[in-house]
Amino acid sequence: MATMKVFVFTLIWCLLHVGIEGRVVNLLQSFDGSRISYGFSNSFNRIFDTSKYGILQLNNGLAQTPQMGWNSWNFFACNINETVIKETADALISTGLADLGYVYVNIDDCWSAAKRDSEGQLVPDPKTFPSGIKALADYIHGKGLKLGIYSDAGQFTCQVRPGSIYHEKDDAALFASWGVDYLKYDNCFNLGIKPQDRYPPMRDALNATGRTIFYSLCEWGVDDPALWAGKVGNSWRTTDDINDSWVSMTTIADINDEWASYAGPGGWNDPDMLEVGNGGMNYQEYRSHFSIWALMKAPLLVGCDIRNMTAETFEIISNKEVIAVNQDPLGVQGRKVYVSGTDDCLQVWAGPLSGHRLAVVLWNRCSKAATITAGWGPLGLESGTSVSIRDLWQHKEVVGDAVASYGARVGAHDCQMYIFTPQTVARSVN
Ligand code: GLA
Repeated sequence: MATMKVFVFTLIWCLLHVGIEGRVVNLLQSFDGSRISYGFSNSFNRIFDTSKYGILQLNNGLAQTPQMGWNSWNFFACNINETVIKETADALISTGLADLGYVYVNIDDCWSAAKRDSEGQLVPDPKTFPSGIKALADYIHGKGLKLGIYSDAGQFTCQVRPGSIYHEKDDAALFASWGVDYLKYDNCFNLGIKPQDRYPPMRDALNATGRTIFYSLCEWGVDDPALWAGKVGNSWRTTDDINDSWVSMTTIADINDEWASYAGPGGWNDPDMLEVGNGGMNYQEYRSHFSIWALMKAPLLVGCDIRNMTAETFEIISNKEVIAVNQDPLGVQGRKVYVSGTDDCLQVWAGPLSGHRLAVVLWNRCSKAATITAGWGPLGLESGTSVSIRDLWQHKEVVGDAVASYGARVGAHDCQMYIFTPQTVARSVN
């Protein structure tokens, strides 16, 4: 009987492994392995290395595409209460953002009272969440949305509320009983214990509840989570906290880029939540922030006050074509593929999409407008390949048959984002 169990387990594991690896490990095969030539070159697999593409080891069925929603921290910090959370849920519906995929309403730090109760249970802050989290979850579920909550893999949260280390089972059971759908699990007051030991107990506790709960690891990239967190969570922060500035956003994009080959359906690199709409960057910078986060298959967690956002903010975060790049089923993280200019500030970022297409971003990180040219070489295309190009911010096709390269003028700190569709050519060989 035991042998049988091992056999069945091994078989399932192998099928999962082969199924997913078969999907992308040799991207070029799927891109170029048939009777039809899609015009990709032999360097394609090296440029878009997916050799460590996630293998769904967490296997909770979630995160087939990066998570989308809202989180309270970037705008509200500790100034949260149940009214803000409910009004945000209302706004996600009334603005149409929920229909675009922004469904997680995530409460960050400061929702809980300073101490556990006499039975050792976490308690919502009675002043700010007097109706409790269950009532809030019911409200949010009633709108077809999902509720996220926050705790810490240490003694206290970063704002010194009780942490969950050594309380994993109780806290996971409590979250499940409230109807929580998502847990962000932070890294403060961690007793110097390594994250590889502190994060799995909460994974196991969440799994044991029987409720499907998205597990978002927030250990700030300290212990290179891309190397181990695929087995533990649905996403893992790769960097320190973002702040609402150009320097922070660009620095974080570059760090997250280093881990591109580890992302995939089931587990994503997380370069932290969006700052679009919080006021510290201009329109062009926020557009770049959103475009690059989408291309990197980052979680799209809006971090502004969506009850009061400007038309510009809405225009950015509601761009369906950019969101579709982020949510593309192939699930391969786009990356920086070519740089030029002073301090490498003229950049080309790109990533494979389903349907033998590429997403391409021309990103001008210099302080003056410039022309940025994407050559077919760095994109993994054969130079003679003819490509039709759709601009995702202008919402129109800009060229039907570009060959060898494509260049465009890009303003300072701005970007252009495209989908490249190589024209197919029938092969004469077998
Ligand atoms: C840490 C996290 C942030 C946020 C705060 C809350 O700094 O990285 O994303 O959750 O804690 O205190």
